[in-house]
Amino acid sequence: MRDLVKHLLKSEQAAEGVELSGWVRTRRDSKEFSFMELNDGSSLQGIQVVIDAGISGYELVGKMNTGASVRVFGDLVASQGKGQSWEILARKIELLGEVPEDFPLQKKGHTPEFLRSIAHLRPRTNLYGAMFRMRSRLSYAVHRFFNERDFTYVHTPIITASDCEGAGEMFRVTTNEAGKPEEDFFGKAAYLTVSGQLEGETYACALSNIYTFGPTFRAENSNTTRHAAEFWMIEPEMAFCDLEGDMDLAEEFMQFLVEDVLDHHEGDLTIFEKFVDKGLRARLEKLVSSGFARMSYTEAVERLEKSGKSFEYPVEWGINLQSEHERYLCEEVVKGPLTVYNYPKSIKPFYMRANDDGKTVTAMDVLVPGVGEIMGGSQREERYDLLKAAMEHHELDLANYDWYLDLRKYGTVPHAGFGAGFERLLMYVTGMQNIRDVIPFARTPGNCEF
Ligand code: 4AD
Ligand code: MG
Repeated sequence: MRDLVKHLLKSEQAAEGVELSGWVRTRRDSKEFSFMELNDGSSLQGIQVVIDAGISGYELVGKMNTGASVRVFGDLVASQGKGQSWEILARKIELLGEVPEDFPLQKKGHTPEFLRSIAHLRPRTNLYGAMFRMRSRLSYAVHRFFNERDFTYVHTPIITASDCEGAGEMFRVTTNEAGKPEEDFFGKAAYLTVSGQLEGETYACALSNIYTFGPTFRAENSNTTRHAAEFWMIEPEMAFCDLEGDMDLAEEFMQFLVEDVLDHHEGDLTIFEKFVDKGLRARLEKLVSSGFARMSYTEAVERLEKSGKSFEYPVEWGINLQSEHERYLCEEVVKGPLTVYNYPKSIKPFYMRANDDGKTVTAMDVLVPGVGEIMGGSQREERYDLLKAAMEHHELDLANYDWYLDLRKYGTVPHAGFGAGFERLLMYVTGMQNIRDVIPFARTPGNCEF
């Protein structure tokens, strides 16, 4: 059985007869020995393999260059060298796949832009290996958080006929490009989902607390460092819950994830601290210990107006807060994460519950330094007549939403939820500045490689 490098490195004792496989990171040869650093992707650190010139397979050592794949049989022994406690004394070594001279990953550092152009090879670098282990670890933490709180995981559909956010940013799904929607595969126009929320609400209005975690798609043509056309979203939905409870859960969720990253990063955090964001660990620790500030939208606008700062996008009550405003509020005003709530009705989707002031809805956004909006949610409008009026106001085709209105007809309950952008969470916990660098294969306007 193959041993993983991460387990070998953590071994409590020496061991005979281990087997490992991986890709060569570096190799240097002396007269009697070769020293190879082997990485199998299980941890940031590779393991040193000492290859005696007399062992089986040694004759091919000259071909075991950076990037080649090899299998090693040997013993785990205490290392003579500095910086590592264990190394492998090889008994037999096999070359599995050699690598021609044009292997694009060399020892020198590469730019993120270059690495995006070889996204099929970038997980073999230290930084992106760490990134994608972190992504996996964080997904697991998401499921653990909800599982520990008795939320039911619901798989909401990817193909849908309803536009949850009402922003008209949907990708069409068709097998009959030129034909009429009635003649198309589903007998009506169908799209890739922008959010699992509406379907999630139906399950919350039966199972109480649910969440979805899946891919979502947006055809918004905004070529920014924080938007992708395909991204993953986590959306909890809770029956018998109001805005207050929603904000509590969102903040607790974020703290749980950050704490999990601090506790279980397998050494990967060190590379982000070293090469991406020197203050990373301190920032994460602060989020866990100090928590979130809260402020209404109205107060946030007042604070921005009073700041005396000239923003690119002018501030007045009623505007959609832009990234520059969100970042100013977190980075300069509260100096940490911030939840803003009760936004103007005019800038938010139809499903948010109207407040009594007639101007605002029970929306909330969680903003964090460096990233801006990381989560957004609301209490939902559970009153049939008000919801129907809001849908008409937003000119939705009610025929597509009769099931959604039915929830308000048959045993309606107050309920609330939010959506957390998984890539934005990853950007926050690693300090990476571009969404393209936290998703295996980024889909952005004009880019659908791999
Ligand atoms: O604020 P949004 O649009 O909210 C919804 O979709 C609600 N239906 C969620 C709910 O209440 N269940 O999106 C939620 C989050 C944002 O805060 C952001 O983190 C992320 O999804 N997001 C994106 N991430 C990457 N690329 C994009 N184009 C994104 N659009 C939204
Ligand atoms: Mg939002």
